[in-house]
Amino acid sequence: MNTNQLLAVWGGSGAGKTTTAVKLAMELANHKKNVVILMCSFTTPAPQTLLPGTATEGKSLGELLCLPSISQDAILSRCIPFGKSSYISLLGYKSGDNAFTYAKYSKDRAVDLITLLRHVADYVIIDCENVFSFDVLSAVALENADAVLRLCTCDLKSLSYFKSSLPLLADARYRAARHIKVLSIVKPGQDSGEYKNTFGGVSYTLPYVPELEEQLRAGQMMNVLCTKQAEPYNAVIRDIANGVLLGIEPEAKPKKVLPALPVLSGKKLIKDFSLQKILPLKKPQPKQKQKSKPEKTDKRLFDKLRIGKGGRP
Ligand SMILES: Nc1ncnc2c1ncn2[C@@H]1O[C@H](COP(=O)(O)OP(=O)(O)OP(=O)(O)O)[C@@H](O)[C@H]1O
Ligand SMILES: [Mg+2]
Repeated sequence: MNTNQLLAVWGGSGAGKTTTAVKLAMELANHKKNVVILMCSFTTPAPQTLLPGTATEGKSLGELLCLPSISQDAILSRCIPFGKSSYISLLGYKSGDNAFTYAKYSKDRAVDLITLLRHVADYVIIDCENVFSFDVLSAVALENADAVLRLCTCDLKSLSYFKSSLPLLADARYRAARHIKVLSIVKPGQDSGEYKNTFGGVSYTLPYVPELEEQLRAGQMMNVLCTKQAEPYNAVIRDIANGVLLGIEPEAKPKKVLPALPVLSGKKLIKDFSLQKILPLKKPQPKQKQKSKPEKTDKRLFDKLRIGKGGRP
C-alpha cells in the first residue's frame, strides 16, 4: 500500500477531474486530514463553480504565482474554505481571470508553490488543466506529484485526447507509466471492457451517478452522495483514497468455504469446477505495517486558516 501526499488528477475536458478531486478530498477529510485542492484551470476557474456566490476577489492563484516570492501565509490568505468543511480549502483562479490576466511565471515559481503546499496541508490534490502544455503549474504538478490519476472516459473524444497528450509526457521525468488509470463516468451499458483494453488496463472504475451532476448544478458538491445508486461510486472513491493516499489495506474478505472436491471423472464435473474453484486457497499474506507519514513542519498554519486568518469568514 502506498501513502502519497501529493496527487495530480488529469484527463480530457469533462473527464471528471474536478469532481474526483473534490470527492477524494472529502474522503480524506473524513479521516481528519487537511487537504488543499489546487485548481489549475484558468479557462474555467473552478472555485466559483463549486461555491457559486462565494467572493473570490483577492484570492487568485494567478496573483500568488506572480508574487516576487511565495510564502505559506500568502498561500493561506488565498485559500477558500470548501463549504463548512474545516479540512478542505480550494486554491484556484478567481472569477473573470483568464490566460492574459497575469504576467507569465517561471517553472521554479510553480515548483516553489508545490513545495510549500506540502508543508501547509496533509494532502494536496491538484486538479490539472487539460491543456497542460499551456499551463506551467499543471505540467510541474504532473512531473512532481507523488501519484497521478489519469481519468479516461469511454468515448472517442477521450481516445483522441490521450493520443495527442500522452506523447507530451513521454519524457522520463513525467514517469507516465506509473499513472494510475481510472475509467470515469461509466454509464450502464457502456462497453467499458473494450475501453479498458484500449487504455492498457485500468485500476479503478468510477460509475456514472446522476446525483453528482445534480450536486454540481446546485453548487452542493460538499454534500455527501446518499442515493443507493451512489454507493458503488463512494466505494471506489474510498478505495482510491485508502489505496493511493492513506495507505490503508483493504478489509480482508471473509474466506470462502471450498466445496468438497468432486471426483473429476466426467466431463460435466470438469466444466462445473473450474481450476480456480478447486485450487486450494492461498495462504493469507501477513498484513504489511502501515507506513507512517512524515510530520508536517507547521500544522499551525492550517489551523490559522480554520480559525479565521487566511480567508475563513
Ligand atoms: N461519476 C460521475 N457521474 C455523473 N456525472 C459525473 C461524474 N463525474 C463527473 N460528472 C459530471 O461530469 C461533468 C464534468 O465533470 P467535471 O467538471 O468534474 O470534469 P472536469 O474534467 O473537471 O472538466 P473540465 O475539463 O471542464 O475542468 C460535470 O457535469 C459533473 O457533474
Ligand atoms: Mg474541472
